[in-house]
Amino acid sequence: MKIFLAGAAGAIGKRLVPLLLDAGHHVVGTTRSIIKADVLRATGVQPVVVDVFDVSALSRAVCTARPDIVVHQLTDLPPGLDQTMMAEGTRRNARMRREGTRNLVAAALAAGVHRLVAQSIAWMYAPGPEPHGEDDPLDVHAPGTRAITADGIATLERLTVASPPINGVVLRYGHLYGPGTGADAAEIPSLHVDAAAWAAVLAIDKARSGIYNLAEPNRYLSTDKARRELGFDASFRLTA
Ligand SMILES: NC(=O)c1ccc[n+]([C@@H]2O[C@H](COP(=O)([O-])OP(=O)(O)OC[C@H]3O[C@@H](n4cnc5c(N)ncnc54)[C@H](OP(=O)(O)O)[C@@H]3O)[C@@H](O)[C@H]2O)c1
Repeated sequence: MKIFLAGAAGAIGKRLVPLLLDAGHHVVGTTRSIIKADVLRATGVQPVVVDVFDVSALSRAVCTARPDIVVHQLTDLPPGLDQTMMAEGTRRNARMRREGTRNLVAAALAAGVHRLVAQSIAWMYAPGPEPHGEDDPLDVHAPGTRAITADGIATLERLTVASPPINGVVLRYGHLYGPGTGADAAEIPSLHVDAAAWAAVLAIDKARSGIYNLAEPNRYLSTDKARRELGFDASFRLTA
C-alpha cells in the first residue's frame, strides 16, 4: 500500500519507516526540513517538505501522493522532553493535536483516503478504578497544564475516529524510551519506541476503527484489546 507518513523523521517515524518498507509499502514521508528530506530519500522514503499548519500545501501534498492510508505521527515536543521547555512545549503540542490533526484529516478527506492511524497518549485517563480500559473518560477537567494536554488528545481522537468515511484508529502510546527518544527508560505506562512503531504497522494491517492502549504490562492501564485484536507484543524490537 501507499502510506502517507506525517512525521517520518520524528522519534517514532524513524523507527517506523524501515518496518513499513520491509512490509513492502511505498512510503511518502513528511518533514519541514530539506536536509531531513535528503536523509529520508536515502532510506527509501519519497519525501515531502511540508508544514502541517500550511493548509493548502498540506492538502496538495496528500492529494498528489494519493495514499491508501495516512499515518499521523506528528508531535511538537522539545528534544528529550527537556523540562525547561515543557510548559511552552505542552501548548505547542496541544495546538499540533487540535489544528494539525484537523488539517491532516481535511487533507485526507480531500484526497479520498479511507484510513487514518494517529498517535495519542495513554496516561490521560481521569482518576478512577485501574487498570483503565479504552472506554474510560479522559481527564479533561484536570487542573493546570494536564487539562491542556487532555483537551488536545480528546480533539485529536475525536477527529480521528469520527470523520467519516475515514476509518480511524487511535494508538494511545505509553511514555516512550529507546533510540531517538533521549531516554533509556520511562515512567509507567512505558513503551519502547520500537514497539510503538510496530503497533502502527499492526494497526495498518489489522485494526478496527477505534482506540487501542499500547504499553508494557502495568497496573495503570489494560492493553488486552491491542494484544487480542492486533497481536501486539510490547517486547518487539527492531533488529540491528
Ligand atoms: N508517547 C510519548 O512519550 C512521546 C510521543 C512523541 C514524542 N515523544 C518525545 O518527544 C521528544 C520529541 O519528539 P520528536 O523527536 O519525535 O520530535 P517532535 O519535534 O515532537 O516532532 C515529531 C514529528 O512531528 C513533525 N512536526 C512537528 N511540527 C510539525 C509541523 N508544524 N508540520 C509538520 N511536521 C511537524 C516533525 O517533523 P520535522 O522533521 O519537520 O521536524 C517530526 O517528524 C522525544 O524525546 C520523544 O521521545 C514522546
